[in-house]
Amino acid sequence: MIGRLNHVGVAVPSIEDAKQTYRDLYGVPESAITETKELPPAGVKFAFVNVDNSQIELIEPLGENSPIVNFLQKNPKGGQHHVCFEVADIYAARDEMVAKGATVLNEPRIGAHGTPIIFIHPKNSNGVLIELMETPKAAHG
Ligand code: CO
Repeated sequence: MIGRLNHVGVAVPSIEDAKQTYRDLYGVPESAITETKELPPAGVKFAFVNVDNSQIELIEPLGENSPIVNFLQKNPKGGQHHVCFEVADIYAARDEMVAKGATVLNEPRIGAHGTPIIFIHPKNSNGVLIELMETPKAAHG
């Protein structure tokens, strides 16, 4: 069974502009917004906006072959892209998803939190792209 909701992924044309929106419109302090980093294997830049009980993951394309380029062509202002739940063991979760007939979109790879992740096709979950991420060992401290 899935665990804690870790974050909601939002694809944006500009992470810096999106950070400004969370600061100016929603009052999130600068200290709650992480630096923008690159995750080349995933083809994205990312930053987190930390709120009391969760995170918004802002993702911006990195390179022409970024997997979120098409999403942003359909949603030029950005949009809600995925929802991420934690699991105890990513390989066990992958095997269970496959056994249940779900379409797992990638082999486990290291994600933005430094723990392995997989994505489950939106067709399996009412149109929502689901990310499963192994819970960080020193979680939620
Ligand atoms: Co994510």
